[in-house]
Amino acid sequence: MEKPNPRRPSNTVLPYQTPRLRDHYLLGKKLGQGQFGTTYLCTEKSASANYACKPIPKRKLVCREDYEDVWREIQIMHHLSEHPNVVRIKGTYEDSVFVHIVMEVCEGGVLFDRIVSKGHFSEREAVKLIKMILGVVEACHSLGVMHRDLKPENFLFDSPKEDAKLKATDFGLSVFYKPGQYLYDVVGSPYYVAPEVLKKCYGPEIDVWSAGVILYILLSGVPPFWAETESGIFRQILQGKLDFKSDPWPIIYKNKRPLVVTYTRSCYCFVFLPD
Ligand SMILES: Nc1ncnc2c1ncn2[C@@H]1O[C@H](COP(=O)(O)OP(=O)(O)O)[C@@H](O)[C@H]1O
Ligand SMILES: [Mg+2]
Repeated sequence: MEKPNPRRPSNTVLPYQTPRLRDHYLLGKKLGQGQFGTTYLCTEKSASANYACKPIPKRKLVCREDYEDVWREIQIMHHLSEHPNVVRIKGTYEDSVFVHIVMEVCEGGVLFDRIVSKGHFSEREAVKLIKMILGVVEACHSLGVMHRDLKPENFLFDSPKEDAKLKATDFGLSVFYKPGQYLYDVVGSPYYVAPEVLKKCYGPEIDVWSAGVILYILLSGVPPFWAETESGIFRQILQGKLDFKSDPWPIIYKNKRPLVVTYTRSCYCFVFLPD
């Protein structure tokens, strides 16, 4: 866990001063709306290159911990930036009103929208996508980072093409952890949250659970745990009953051979592929 920097003034996120965003970038159209904020297209004035900019309004940061959370999000993005399936951070800018995270722009939209427009994916397509997602989970865990908010809204396609690469974004709920350490705070998004999180005692395996939920949705187009209310969803998750009887599961299972998509030495994800 990052130690607070005693020299950092209490109303700043970054431990250093930055130029003003507007001196270097032009802000453009809205790219997407998340749980906590909006991301915009921006253009670097000197190179005419496009990026995405996520402004975090400082009025939403009410305590010291909130400042530390944003700083941690930025540090984690830098840690993972070299990974081919993680959005690459370009820079950070801070003024009195916002902290701006400037990053590579992904023109293909969020995975969530592609699931909605396609209904669901073929097994072959789902395997390709889940391999990329598990690669990100593996990279996070090998660096001691728990993502804690894996869901189709936080994966972007780098281009509108069919064979676009998937990139993880939004490390706003991610934390550093030590092997064997348990966390207790309940965070995440209802459909994807692991039962261990709801029981308030969990480790990095919760990210694998969320990846499993994503895989179920990729193949079937519907969430495995569903109810009208949040508490209803949580009840379903804790019961853990999965429907593999309704369409399209019988077709997916028929005449298929299992393929193991590796995650780490101890965790595997099984996908069924046609012969
Ligand atoms: N690098 C990017 N390129 C294109 N769109 C992006 C990018 N980063 C985020 N977005 C869009 O903005 C939305 C919100 O960003 P996100 O980082 O998930 O913020 P939040 O913490 O508010 O959920 C995403 O769901 C996506 O639609
Ligand atoms: Mg998000």
